[in-house]
Amino acid sequence: LLTAKDKDTIKGFWAKAATKAEEIGTDALSRMLVVYPQTKTYFSHWKDLSPGSAPVRKHGKTVMSGVAEAVSKIDDLTNGLLTLSELHAFQLRVDPANFKILSHNLLVVLAIQFPDDFTPEVHVAMDKFLSALALALSEKYR
Ligand code: HEM
Repeated sequence: LLTAKDKDTIKGFWAKAATKAEEIGTDALSRMLVVYPQTKTYFSHWKDLSPGSAPVRKHGKTVMSGVAEAVSKIDDLTNGLLTLSELHAFQLRVDPANFKILSHNLLVVLAIQFPDDFTPEVHVAMDKFLSALALALSEKYR
């Protein structure tokens, strides 16, 4: 799965991306809700689901704290994200297909916000990492 080189690439890129975490999370979540409107059903209790709204910004930050946790637990994502997986599976009942959708949106936003750093090498490493993250979050569903 993730090679030692992938992990180095991810950690290096993340060190930079983490400084703009709130902006990344907000844009990725905003984009997901617009481009994949079926994802809005999970957030119907929010007052305003439009791009950049207060709840979208707040949750964008929350999601990115989850991604940061995943980076810190990159050597054992499955165990590291068990609690978060349990929450999404049993409490929130999020269809795990949506993890791939959010991952895709995160990747798009990273490419837009870091055009110089988002080299093909970073692209492939982050794609692999987000797939591994989605898989780890799906763990408790099986
Ligand atoms: C809550 C992370 C994907 C729906 C959360 C929380 C975190 C998180 C850290 C807060 C947990 C807590 O309160 O302890 C992530 C990560 C994801 C992801 C890292 C993938 C990269 C998704 C997807 C959906 C979703 C794809 C649905 C389309 C929710 C909902 C909540 C939540 C509905 C509760 C929000 C609220 O009502 O305030 N997520 N999540 N998550 N997540 Fe996710």
